[in-house]
Amino acid sequence: MTRPTLIDIRHVTRVYRADDGSETHALDDVSLEVREGEFVSLIGPSGCGKTTLLRLVAGLDSPQAGSLTVEGRPIEAPGPDRGYVFQQGALYPWATVAENIATGLKARGVYRTERHRVPQFIELVGLSGFDNAYPHQVSGGMAQRVAIARALINGPRALLLDEPMGALDSFTRIELQDKLLDLWKDLGSTMLLVTHDVDEAICLSDRIVVMTPRPGRISEVIEVALGRPRLRNDPDFLALRSSILEKLHLAGSRPEPEFNI
Ligand SMILES: Nc1ncnc2c1ncn2[C@@H]1O[C@H](COP(=O)(O)OP(=O)(O)OP(=O)(O)O)[C@@H](O)[C@H]1O
Ligand SMILES: [Mg+2]
Repeated sequence: MTRPTLIDIRHVTRVYRADDGSETHALDDVSLEVREGEFVSLIGPSGCGKTTLLRLVAGLDSPQAGSLTVEGRPIEAPGPDRGYVFQQGALYPWATVAENIATGLKARGVYRTERHRVPQFIELVGLSGFDNAYPHQVSGGMAQRVAIARALINGPRALLLDEPMGALDSFTRIELQDKLLDLWKDLGSTMLLVTHDVDEAICLSDRIVVMTPRPGRISEVIEVALGRPRLRNDPDFLALRSSILEKLHLAGSRPEPEFNI
């Protein structure tokens, strides 16, 4: 049975205009439906509009043409139904792990009544005992887990993740990918993940959206018909990786060393 659509992106165009009159067509006529509970990855070369698209879904920006809805409602601003995780460095350095996670509740004005949820979410992302640590005292992977907990504490229907593992070493990245999959299974939230890592996209996603730049467009949507858990040395996994790399016009280039299993 097909699940209902949660996020509906229809014929969206976003052009950035510079002061000198030059234009960048970051997105051109992009349409995508993300279904409830689905894990979708956006992949494509730098500048193909991945962040632009995610920011539009978050309501941090608006398109010149086309429409975006979440559960049928037009997206006009950020809302608690959509949690956003930035690539890196988005924690408040002067606030502790617990205080950073609590900012989600404070932004909604429910901190006084819902503060008991903070330790629950610290535990959920596996950071028990680090409540009072400051961002500079935790590792990059732990900091990203704080950012994920902060985005999740408001109970979003969709989690929007912009290369959350991009700055991490390969071991930490795989650990966080596993954590993300656990959270997805446990919470049932819809995931929209930007990544430049083909293996990550295959490991995690129900569907992979391949984008191309100048102008930013969706060139292909690939269903990942592999069972879970997914093993990176499985022949079907490797075949899918080759075909995606080919689609990204990277065929023949060496994958990142950590994925040479
Ligand atoms: N605020 C902005 N003003 C002008 N141009 C912008 C702005 N934001 C993005 N762009 C341009 O729009 C295009 C798409 O940018 P975007 O950040 O969405 O790409 P991306 O796919 O996320 O790239 P990356 O993988 O490097 O993060 C790029 O050419 C970029 O230079
Ligand atoms: Mg980006």
